[in-house]
Amino acid sequence: MAADVRWLGHSAFHLSGGGADVLVDPFLTGNPKAPVSADELPADVILLTHGHGDHLGDTVAIAQRTGATVLAIVELAAEIEAAGVENVVNPNLGGTVQFDWGWVKLVPAWHTALTPNGTPHMPAGLLIHYGGHLIYHLGDTALFSDLQLIARRGTKVDLALVPIGGHFTMDRFDAVTAVEFVQPAQVIPIHYGTFPPIETDAQAFKQDVQNAGFSQVYVLQPGDTHHVK
Ligand code: NI
Ligand code: MN
Repeated sequence: MAADVRWLGHSAFHLSGGGADVLVDPFLTGNPKAPVSADELPADVILLTHGHGDHLGDTVAIAQRTGATVLAIVELAAEIEAAGVENVVNPNLGGTVQFDWGWVKLVPAWHTALTPNGTPHMPAGLLIHYGGHLIYHLGDTALFSDLQLIARRGTKVDLALVPIGGHFTMDRFDAVTAVEFVQPAQVIPIHYGTFPPIETDAQAFKQDVQNAGFSQVYVLQPGDTHHVK
């Protein structure tokens, strides 16, 4: 099985080739880097790290159009269900949800979270077992030492999606240490370049990680697809 990971700008991804169309944090409307519009995307499942507007994005509209199942932490899931989405699954931190194509586990992320409608909830990272690969979307997080626990679980992370933009998340310098902690084979930097406060030098991040010998870094343009090895 394959895992084709298409970056939709910011924190948004479309996973395909692994038996389902999976979207993560589908923020397209209002995202100046979005290479597609929300009504063009296929979706069987939508995974959310948290409910800030730049992550929740077009979730409800896509789910209503496609019938996709939405996975989000319990308080956020309740708001999405109340908005009229039929298929919602609501794990909490540490929980794993099985699908016929793989599984998803919610893990901690250090951030704050309130939806645009005012629902407080805990932000999360997502461990996604897809297409025979382990993909770790760190969500919006600062650097914290428990990122090391992900590497200690015993299953190597094949691909980590790591925020580097600073201001709202860790910056590109802290992100190098995060990569050292997680020990992924491959890294795609995310959550930068979308808006002025999160401009950064992704190529410099790549050089720092690769010079340290931690991981292979792939700097994508929005719309590019990375085939997970
Ligand atoms: Ni956020
Ligand atoms: Mn964000």
